[in-house]
Amino acid sequence: MKQLCIFLAIPVMLIGFSFEQFSDLDKSALRGKVIYTDFCVTCHLANGKGTEKIFPPLAKSDYLKNQQTESIKSVKYGQKGKIIVNGIAYNGTMPSAGLEDDEIADVINYINHSWGNNYGKMVTKEQVQSIKK
Ligand code: HEC
Repeated sequence: MKQLCIFLAIPVMLIGFSFEQFSDLDKSALRGKVIYTDFCVTCHLANGKGTEKIFPPLAKSDYLKNQQTESIKSVKYGQKGKIIVNGIAYNGTMPSAGLEDDEIADVINYINHSWGNNYGKMVTKEQVQSIKK
């Protein structure tokens, strides 16, 4: 019995340790990936590149990089009208996905830190909450 306990305890500890290695940002981005796959992938695609002139890219997007507040606002409330992303004009409509503030923070953390993007510090639920239309 004692041996069995040790046998079970070691893998449990190892799993515990490996989770410890994920930062809060990593954990948020991991949750964000699930949300991205459910709500964003149809337009912006799994590789984040979108479709030129129709759905703007998120991967290496100068808009996302430089206009964090506007980007969060567009995910929170939807976005329409002309915007320029990487020198290309978009004039489409992105509907609001109706996500909760913590889910928006997670998905923003995912797109800010995927496909080679490394945009800013971790976005928090409180930050999303404070952004109004
Ligand atoms: C129905 C298609 C569609 C879906 C689904 C969608 N978007 Fe968009 N997204 C767009 C379009 C179109 C624009 C540009 C709107 C404009 O022209 O003003 C845009 C713009 C953006 C921008 C700002 C521009 C940029 O490329 O940096 C961000 C950030 C963004 N979307 C993130 C998301 C996230 C995150 C999700 C999922 C929660 C999502 N989008 C879901 C179509 C979509």
